[in-house]
Amino acid sequence: MAKILEVLARSVWDSRGRPTVEAQVAVKGAGRSAATAVGRAIAPAGASTGSGEAKCIDVRQAVHLINTEVRSSLTGKKLDQESIDRSLIALDGTPDKSRLGGNAIVAVSLACAQAAAAAAKKPLWKHLAGERPVAMPVPQIQIFGGGAHARGRMDVQDLMIICTGAGSFTESLAWTAEVYRAAGARLAKRNALYGVADEGGYWPAFKSNEEALAELTGAISDAGFEPGADVGIALDIAATQLWRGGRYHLALDKRDLSAEQLHAMLLGWIERYPIVSIEDPFAEHDAEAMASFTRTAGGRIQIVGDDFFVTDWKKLQQGKARGACNAVLLKPNQVGTLTETLACWRAAQEAGYGAIVSARSGETEDVSVVHLAVGWGVPQLKVGGFSRSERMAKWNEGIRIEESLGGNKLPYPARRLFQRPTG
Ligand code: PGA
Ligand code: ZN
Repeated sequence: MAKILEVLARSVWDSRGRPTVEAQVAVKGAGRSAATAVGRAIAPAGASTGSGEAKCIDVRQAVHLINTEVRSSLTGKKLDQESIDRSLIALDGTPDKSRLGGNAIVAVSLACAQAAAAAAKKPLWKHLAGERPVAMPVPQIQIFGGGAHARGRMDVQDLMIICTGAGSFTESLAWTAEVYRAAGARLAKRNALYGVADEGGYWPAFKSNEEALAELTGAISDAGFEPGADVGIALDIAATQLWRGGRYHLALDKRDLSAEQLHAMLLGWIERYPIVSIEDPFAEHDAEAMASFTRTAGGRIQIVGDDFFVTDWKKLQQGKARGACNAVLLKPNQVGTLTETLACWRAAQEAGYGAIVSARSGETEDVSVVHLAVGWGVPQLKVGGFSRSERMAKWNEGIRIEESLGGNKLPYPARRLFQRPTG
């Protein structure tokens, strides 16, 4: 097994122009003549974070800690992901990773995985998959961005599409390009094209949240697709952000809703629009509302816990026991290490939950998340919208991986995942 020669960190810049941590790990392969290899990874950053997430610390401090404590703890160690991650957790010593920082830990954990793949002369996805057969994940792609990613201009955070009728990852992107263009043309016609939000979806210039849904459905039709049959809608309500004094505050609609009223509003939307997935429909602490909504709508659509589970396998098991959600978002920096992220994916599989590997609203050119989804066999991927190169770098990496796997001869799970029962 390869050994770690050196760990170092530097401060680089993310897609919001904020500093973030890049870690670099040099390793030497087994055997005397083995060459050295290098792996690198950059920590992403969220804007609508769950309270249970690993805590990010000041980037200068995180870089300093990697270049001192983490370096001396890991140098000379075997490049075994689980034991490296265990060492990082022990060295941090806090329940919320607040001493070394979730940003430092995720960058080092991921850089070690990249170094192991480089030492084995394999792409990361292949290194993670081993001999297991793989398939491409189904993309959720943002068309309109709102919430904390658009200064609260619209309450719903993500209006996304899932190309449920497409036959491959690459075809999903081609269809998305059509819908994205059609949505832009609709905004331009109304003189409402104001650029894009943090994740590359159009800036949401709408009079109500529901108008955005109607416009997205219209854009799907304009692009020549049948809403529902070819292309479905996925929402991220990010409802923790809407919680004010015991009610859900929809600023654009000038309404304060109880959990029951929000439940009824979402059911109405599911009736009227081709919605196939809703993420965080209720706040992170509102397990009762989440379970009640899952009982009502969980047989028809995917209900995803993001802030609700924060990629924590224990929270997922508790959620399963209460009947809350039927899918989980997997964000490595939400929990800190790759090993813990993988534990949550394994818990999801045991619970019969769906899963989506996800990037954050603050991103970079780092495309590791695409490799995690393919290599671990996670069936869905969410990396934001269809513009801004920190997003497109990831979609384009998926095209390359699909091509290397034999293109559209691969099985592609979109139809199986999102067949919505009628009636
Ligand atoms: P964040 O949002 O990266 O800003 O936390 C993404 C999401 O809620 O899915
Ligand atoms: Zn979310």
